[in-house]
Amino acid sequence: MTDRLNTIFGWLLFAGVVALLLRFFVGLIMPEAERPEQMGYVIQGVEEAGGAAAGPSLADLLAGGDAAAGANSFAKCVACHTIEQGGATGIGPNLYGVMGTAIATHAAGFDYSSALADHGGEWTYENVDAWLKSPRAFANGTKMSFAGLGDAQERANVMLYLFENGGGPAFPEVVVAEEEVVAEEGAEAEVEAEAVEAEAAPEGA
Ligand code: HEC
Repeated sequence: MTDRLNTIFGWLLFAGVVALLLRFFVGLIMPEAERPEQMGYVIQGVEEAGGAAAGPSLADLLAGGDAAAGANSFAKCVACHTIEQGGATGIGPNLYGVMGTAIATHAAGFDYSSALADHGGEWTYENVDAWLKSPRAFANGTKMSFAGLGDAQERANVMLYLFENGGGPAFPEVVVAEEEVVAEEGAEAEVEAEAVEAEAAPEGA
């Protein structure tokens, strides 16, 4: 009986250790399942303590962004888009002043896909961010055959560049929550503590 209990407890302990290790490593690799491109932040131990909102907010990325870098990134778009006022329609619509317009209405005469035309809404920063991250995820069936920009900062930079060319809505406000500041200070220690915990556990088993 005792033996069997021991076996059961042994397995339970083992399962617990495995779960702890898994949690730790998954946390390292994937701070937030939909944003694997932000791996780097967590290893630095800065963003993980933010909990649900891992990674800097869009407002932060825009505030700290660089329109000139966005102009460089726009090289990935020029095969299909012009940006200057009155620029020609190519494979994609001209993008001068597109920020803030109703989705798929901006370039008169451009033959938008129904996937995008039926999407509804406006080109807010959130929507353009999602669109540039994955056009297909944003509007399944879109004609924009572009894989997307995986880097959130790069997307923000491109949006700043779009804003520079024709304006757009006001930028989202940067909110510095008090907990966030505390969390950032505590983050490093927490990640370290977790690592120690994960290392110590197998020895206890
Ligand atoms: C391979 C060609 C191609 C590339 C590369 C491309 N686009 Fe597009 N883009 C399109 C097409 C085509 C559409 C219209 C999509 C539809 O109707 O479904 C579009 C639509 C858009 C729209 C919506 C415009 C509107 O009037 O509503 C934006 C914004 C946009 N693209 C931005 C970009 C940016 C920024 C890049 C570079 C990071 C980029 N695109 C790269 C082809 C491209």
